[in-house]
Amino acid sequence: MSGEFKLGKLINEGKTKKVYELLTDPSLCLLISKDRITAGDGAKAHDLEGKAEISTATTVKVFKLLSEVGLKTAFVSAGTEKSFVAKKCDMIPIEWVTRRVATGSFLKRHPGVPEGYTFNPPLQETFFKDDANHDPQWSDQQIISANFQMGGVKITKDQLNIMKSIALLVFEVLEKAWATRNCSLIDMKIEFGVDTNGEILVADIIDSDSWRLWPAGDKRLMKDKQVYRDLREVKPEDLEKVKINFKWVANELDYCLTQPSPLIVILMGSKSDEEHCRKIAKYAAELGLRTQLRVCSAHKSTKETLNIIAEYENCKEKVVLIAVAGRSNGLGPVLSGNTTLPVINCPPFKSDSVAQYMWSSLDLPSGLGCTTALYPETAAISAAQIHALDNHIVWSRLRTKQLANYITLKKADINMRTSCA
Ligand SMILES: Nc1ncnc2c1ncn2[C@@H]1O[C@H](COP(=O)(O)OP(=O)(O)OP(=O)(O)O)[C@@H](O)[C@H]1O
Ligand SMILES: [Mg+2]
Repeated sequence: MSGEFKLGKLINEGKTKKVYELLTDPSLCLLISKDRITAGDGAKAHDLEGKAEISTATTVKVFKLLSEVGLKTAFVSAGTEKSFVAKKCDMIPIEWVTRRVATGSFLKRHPGVPEGYTFNPPLQETFFKDDANHDPQWSDQQIISANFQMGGVKITKDQLNIMKSIALLVFEVLEKAWATRNCSLIDMKIEFGVDTNGEILVADIIDSDSWRLWPAGDKRLMKDKQVYRDLREVKPEDLEKVKINFKWVANELDYCLTQPSPLIVILMGSKSDEEHCRKIAKYAAELGLRTQLRVCSAHKSTKETLNIIAEYENCKEKVVLIAVAGRSNGLGPVLSGNTTLPVINCPPFKSDSVAQYMWSSLDLPSGLGCTTALYPETAAISAAQIHALDNHIVWSRLRTKQLANYITLKKADINMRTSCA
């Protein structure tokens, strides 16, 4: 069952999977899925042949998507058909639930709120993992007061806030991905663990048991485990239907994993601007953009500049232009006056010339609409934001970058506080 993997001791076993240490690397484990479906904290349970494979395929695809957009998780690699390799974690016994739409248990706990009520921003709730007491809802204060210490990390308000931000991002990334398949992600739950390096990571699994998924936003078309939860009497044909739904979800995820990398064209007024352009291209690549570099001067090769624009006007894909011209920037404004493609100026200013030359980018003749970014990173992010309007991978990478900024600041604050104490 575990293929080529050399398994060590069984470190965890639950209703739907077994977790084994890997002898080859004590920081890793193998999560082996069972052909078992359960609901109501295990009160309802059935064998479902083939479920382990479908569940594993779903989890592997979801974690690959999260990794593609820059989100770190405990997932390491696919294993066998029924297993995957993950960082071995000391699991934090909390379920982190994020909801976009009110349904299910939320409605029981909040009488008067109609089903379908939309949460903007998504609502976050936490539940203590305790089957015997039906996973009671816990407040922030209860989590902090529990004084959890996992893998050497104390779970304080700081860690709580970081985990909440990550849980929100995971939801948003998957919500955007599913939207490309015309499916509404209604709510979902994830878990966190602390790996052997003391890093808090999204862990466990994310599969059809983790969320509510309504094609076309229509509850009647639901494709998640709720179908099983709702069954009063479980007949073999019902279980088959649940399995077909789960399989459909695993297959659909293939279409969400990637999107063609969108294009930015960086036009430089002179070959001497190349280094500056390559910096923009580097930041753009980190956000999932493709770059083409071109050389043309609005002043010295005007006709050729217009010919180059004509090429991109006729391009099948969407293009954002970045104009890089030192001294007096004629390039960006000329591009802007002759194309409807978005144009971002990013002149290669020297620090002593910013004030002198920036006006050629900013003080435009009437009827022009190019914008100006002072730094290569700003230009790349601005271009990515335009593409993010219809590219969920770029959108998610931008969002992940924002989260990373927040976490870096938060960690600096924690260090500052503790070193000053
Ligand atoms: N990367 C990991 N390292 C170590 N343990 C993990 C990892 N990912 C998940 N686990 C743990 O594996 C156990 C078995 O999972 P399973 O989902 O079958 O449990 P369960 O019956 O649902 O119980 P629970 O309510 O604890 O999730 C869980 O306790 C889960 O927290
Ligand atoms: Mg579980």
